[in-house]
Order: sequence, then C-alpha cells, then structure tokens
Amino acid sequence: MATILSVASGKGGVGKSMVVSNLGLLLSRKGKKVILVDLDIGGANLHILFGMFHPHSTLTDFLTNRTKTLEEAAHPINTISHLKLIPGTGETLITSNLQHAKKKRLIRHLQKLDADIVLVDVGAGTSYHTLDFFLLADYYLSVATPDPTSVLDLYRFIKLAAIRKVLTAFLARDPVSETLLNQDFHSVSDVLESVGRTSESGMAVAQEALKDFKPALILNRMTPKARINTLQLQQLLKQYVGTTLAVVGNIPEDTQVHDSILKYLPVVDFAPKSPSAQAFHQLSENIFSLISQPRERNREEMIEEPRKLRA
Ligand SMILES: Nc1ncnc2c1ncn2[C@@H]1O[C@H](COP(=O)(O)OP(=O)(O)OP(=O)(O)O)[C@@H](O)[C@H]1O
Ligand SMILES: [Mg+2]
Repeated sequence: MATILSVASGKGGVGKSMVVSNLGLLLSRKGKKVILVDLDIGGANLHILFGMFHPHSTLTDFLTNRTKTLEEAAHPINTISHLKLIPGTGETLITSNLQHAKKKRLIRHLQKLDADIVLVDVGAGTSYHTLDFFLLADYYLSVATPDPTSVLDLYRFIKLAAIRKVLTAFLARDPVSETLLNQDFHSVSDVLESVGRTSESGMAVAQEALKDFKPALILNRMTPKARINTLQLQQLLKQYVGTTLAVVGNIPEDTQVHDSILKYLPVVDFAPKSPSAQAFHQLSENIFSLISQPRERNREEMIEEPRKLRA
C-alpha cells in the first residue's frame, strides 16, 4: 500500500505545487515509485509545471466515470525515475460541487494506487473538500511563506483541519455529532469541552483522533528576517489546536524558482546548484526519513456523514 502525503496551505500561491513537483522528483530518484496527484479542485496546474499542456486523461475522466480506475489517468513524467502525475480537473461544476459518493470513490482509489509514495497537492483554502483531501493522507505537509497573511491563513487551516478530524471521528455517533454540528468552534479545546459535556466517552474519542495529528511545516520563500512569524504560528497552534508543527524544510526565496517554472522544469533539474535546489535535497532527505520510520497508519477513512456536513 502506498504511503500518502498531502500538501496544503491556508493561503494560495505560497508554493505548494512547486514543492510537490520538486519533492516528488527527488523522492522518485531515490528509487521510489511516486505518483503526484493534483487535487486542487478548480485550480489544477501541476501538469503545467512539467510542460504537460493537454493531458489526454485527467481526474475529470475518472470523476465522470469515463475511466474505470484512477490509475488510467496517471501519466509517466520520467520513466527512468518512476514518476507519474495524475492531472487535476479544470473548472467544472462536477468537480467544484463534488458529490459525497464521488469523493468517497476518489479517496478509495487514491488509497489503492500502485505506488510507494503518493503526493497529493490539495490546493489552498479551507473548503470541506480541501480539508478531507488533506486528512486522507498518512502524513500531512503544510506550506507557508513568512508573509504574515500566509502564516495566519495556515494557522486557520490547521485549526479547521484539526476540528474537522475530531468531528469526523464523531459523525456516525449521535447525539454527540448532532450537538457538534450546531456549533461554531474557535479552538480544538472548544470541541473537546463540548464533547466532554455531551458524551462520557466523547473526550477519549476526540483525543484519540488528534493523537497523531502532527502536520509538518515547509517554509518557502524564506528570508533571514522571517523567524518571528514562525514563532508566532507555533504559539498560536499550541494554544488553540494543541499541536506544534515540526519544520521539515526551509526553501529560500530564489529567482531560479521563477525561471525554472518558465522553463517547465522543477528547479532541482533546472538549476541543481541553486540555493532552492540544495534546500529541496535536504527536504527530501527529511521526508524520506520521516516516512521510513515505522509507525501506525493514521489514515482518515471517510465514513458516512450526516447530510449537514456533506460537501
Ligand atoms: N522559493 C521561491 N522563490 C521564488 N519564487 C517562488 C518560490 N516559491 C514559489 N515562488 C513563486 O510563487 C509562484 C506560485 O507557486 P505555486 O504555483 O507552486 O504556488 P501554489 O501554492 O501551488 O499556488 P496555488 O494556491 O494557486 O495552487 C511560482 O510561480 C513562483 O513564481
Ligand atoms: Mg498550486
């Protein structure tokens, strides 16, 4: 079974797709079969980063049942390094309003892909789709730049993902889920308190759901003055989510990144000696050792949801 890693951010344009393309390429060069999946619904462009302009099959073909398996939409990028890409969808109503059943089928197929590593670009924002795609993984990666708005948006994203994870653990359970659904939560401890009030076992279920919720952070476009914002993010998360983010990568601001995108090549191949390429090698080492450690799988199974929470 493949190890799934999801890559998300609160704010758009912070470098997720650039990270996915470079990290995927380097992991595949370590001898792993890697599939990149573009689940940035409505904003898919990962294929463009590899100069693939008109892929003959995409996620849309799978979602509209034109292809039976998700595997059929996987295009080899570099056959030597075992790297494939499943291009995302364009702006279609079917995908922007992805029905629950289709989302379940997609997640089921993702989990069965024939690969060692599946790297999922989940796009920006905090829609239920994005949160669910983020949570379906074995390992959660988040990307932020030192820009204060990016840090704040990432904090919001992680908080909502944690809340969604706890709620998902309760969705099949009444009366707890009904009570939870009618509330707006500001922090994970709010959820835990509320759960504790409505069900004796609730607190234990919630704590279990959050036990392994440890997203890792990739800082992108870093400059020497950026440190203070990261500290603030860590403090906010500790206080309101009860988790911290381990920093697994630190990618500098680098004009070569921009140039590499114009040439449709990951920067690690376009400018192998550039500061960002060097940083990507360190990141891929860190990710490689992270996923090589034995650990219980903590994948979010999608369960039946009460209608109100369906996206
Ligand atoms: N380290 C960097 N140094 C310089 N420029 C960068 C760096 N990282 C990203 N960029 C610039 O930011 C742009 C956006 O990157 P990318 O498309 O990967 O972001 P994204 O988070 O996937 O965006 P979206 O949310 O729209 O999907 C790139 O085209 C590039 O010009
Ligand atoms: Mg993107």
